[in-house]
Amino acid sequence: MTKFNENYLNLKESYLFSDIAKRVETYQAANPDKKIIRLGIGDVTLPLAPSVIKSLHSAVDEMADAATFKGYGPEQGYDFLRNAIKDYYARNGVELDADEIFVSDGAKSDTGNITDMFAVDNTVLVPDPVYPVYVDTNTMNGRKIIYMDGTAENGFLPMPDPNVHADIIYLCSPNNPTGAAYNKQQLKAWVDYALENNAVILYDSAYECFIEDPELPRSIFAIEGAKQCAVEFCSLSKTAGFTGTRCGYTVVPKGIKAVAADGSELVLNKMWNRRQTTKFNGVPYIVQRAAAAVFSEAGMAEAKAMINTYKVNAKIIADTMDSVGVRYYGGINSPYIWFECPFDMYSWDFFDFMLDKIQVVGTPGAGFGKNGDNFFRLTSFNNKANTEEAMERFKTLFK
Ligand code: MLT
Repeated sequence: MTKFNENYLNLKESYLFSDIAKRVETYQAANPDKKIIRLGIGDVTLPLAPSVIKSLHSAVDEMADAATFKGYGPEQGYDFLRNAIKDYYARNGVELDADEIFVSDGAKSDTGNITDMFAVDNTVLVPDPVYPVYVDTNTMNGRKIIYMDGTAENGFLPMPDPNVHADIIYLCSPNNPTGAAYNKQQLKAWVDYALENNAVILYDSAYECFIEDPELPRSIFAIEGAKQCAVEFCSLSKTAGFTGTRCGYTVVPKGIKAVAADGSELVLNKMWNRRQTTKFNGVPYIVQRAAAAVFSEAGMAEAKAMINTYKVNAKIIADTMDSVGVRYYGGINSPYIWFECPFDMYSWDFFDFMLDKIQVVGTPGAGFGKNGDNFFRLTSFNNKANTEEAMERFKTLFK
């Protein structure tokens, strides 16, 4: 019989957000009259912006005409989008070549796909709490994973330990789930550590558009040396509401090398291109046209307005936490509010308690690792009315 990849047996039985969805579905089936408010998975609620829709419509029309119809596109993404992303980086002070940018169907896919590039005997360092995709995809490959603690004491921003060696390091800033964001000095320490250890940093910047503090870097490439050691993953899911439309980008600078068993050095950009041309046929043309509109002047203004709408919700949640005396983190440079579970509860118990008492769904911190056991995450991506109602209900838990 065909042998199965036994590494999958080391995964938790189901993916965090599938598990939550199932629990909520079961509750709703048993309580059909209850109105559930979802502040769990970070899924957006605002529609695509007018410039994006306009560009999407016109691309759909192009597909209806033999003269402008598009079949297979370049696996790496169309030049018009790669150049728009390159210009976006340049406006934020980072110079890249367009062929260092690979258009993807989102940061989740590529943070997992990139594991194809690395040998199984590399040691992977991840923070705890952590976005579960980094852990699950490396577990699927059978790689050794070591953890660094993110705690209230270090502001959920673990720093490199010179006594620990890692070959692959995952960082996410602003962080999912804690909302904490590294400053330039802290990221410089990570870049220095990676260079000293000949390691690669896999940097997830999916929430960069939520950064409002001008002192905080929006890209790891704002740090000197990063182009020799870091790959960056970004997504339009949160920037422009593309969770259902699917488009992101992965930046693989040409300065990063990895070593083969015979000692020869391989340029990661070239090898990633080799991987993509084999395993990926690119993001749909119409989606790439929609994505390019995000980077136009009007598109950027519309995206900013969307983010500001979500920030109002984050403030409503933060103010509620203040009013009931619950300690929280994030919510300023991030769409996530990460708080200590009230009543000394374990996070899955608090999840059930909230669902049962007030029909509000959040994400239990335990789903992100042991350091999340007593924490809970709420998102600001629902609409204002629902967020307000959820927070009014939340306050009743304290009466
Ligand atoms: C989350 O809720 O953590 C995110 O929405 C998950 C994702 O982006 O895949």
